[in-house]
Amino acid sequence: MKSLKDYLSQAKKEKWAVGHFNFSTTDQLKAFVEVAQELKSPIMVATSEGEAKFIGWPQAKALVRSFQSLGAPVFLNADHHKSWESTKMAIDAGYDTVLIDGSKLPYEENVALTKKIVDYARSVNPDMSVEGELGYLKGESQIQEQVEISEADYTKPDQAKDFVEQTGVDRLAIVFGNIHGIVTKQAERLDLNVLQAVAATVPNTVLVLHGASGLPADDIKAAIERGISNIHINTELRVAYLEALKEAVQKNPQQTTPYKFLARSFEATKQLISEKLQLFGSVGKIN
Ligand code: G3H
Ligand code: ZN
Repeated sequence: MKSLKDYLSQAKKEKWAVGHFNFSTTDQLKAFVEVAQELKSPIMVATSEGEAKFIGWPQAKALVRSFQSLGAPVFLNADHHKSWESTKMAIDAGYDTVLIDGSKLPYEENVALTKKIVDYARSVNPDMSVEGELGYLKGESQIQEQVEISEADYTKPDQAKDFVEQTGVDRLAIVFGNIHGIVTKQAERLDLNVLQAVAATVPNTVLVLHGASGLPADDIKAAIERGISNIHINTELRVAYLEALKEAVQKNPQQTTPYKFLARSFEATKQLISEKLQLFGSVGKIN
């Protein structure tokens, strides 16, 4: 089976993106993998620290392993893990990849923590793809009216080069107008010039677009065209799951069987993943 690094470098070369989807329940994960298999697409699945606390780090890995053992190219990421302790816990639980997010730390501390994780990850698995983060990525994976963002929050191209050289990360989460979550009273605008400038300084690094929920399809396509090869979606999945669940409960309030009242959420999740994988261009990339 090809590794995550193989798929990411193929995506970078051919200008498509590997989708990255967060889960905190088994049915979400099953829906993601079923669609990816139907569409012959590799995918990354992930737990944030909060999602991992809910489902359990070893449990998340055991679930993903059950699909991997059937040959599915699904890779488990520790998303936005912010401390040495939590990231080490994910690596020790057998996660395939991690995002060590030191972006809120002073720059030198971010470099030091990221480098420490890169070294540890490689001592456990020399082929592990490790992601770092640079720039101030605002917002939460939920619906918000507005999130104030300014150019001062964006990733600086020269600093990106220095960060990659000092830490040795394989992937870099960058900020160029993207925000976590969906905003209802503001347009989320990507600055593609910043993306291009960063891409030019780190040509061998996989660039990651976080906070892709709520972005128009054309913006996502333009970002892929200019160097994004990995795209994170969470809020849209949460909203689709909850809306379908509310509808199911409203339609049949007497229903007490979870697999029955969750059936709509499962289908809504599958539908959304299918749309995203087609948009990202990863369909048919499993051979
Ligand atoms: O790491 C997770 C993603 O960046 C999710 O962002 O909630 O805006 O889709 P989103
Ligand atoms: Zn993110």
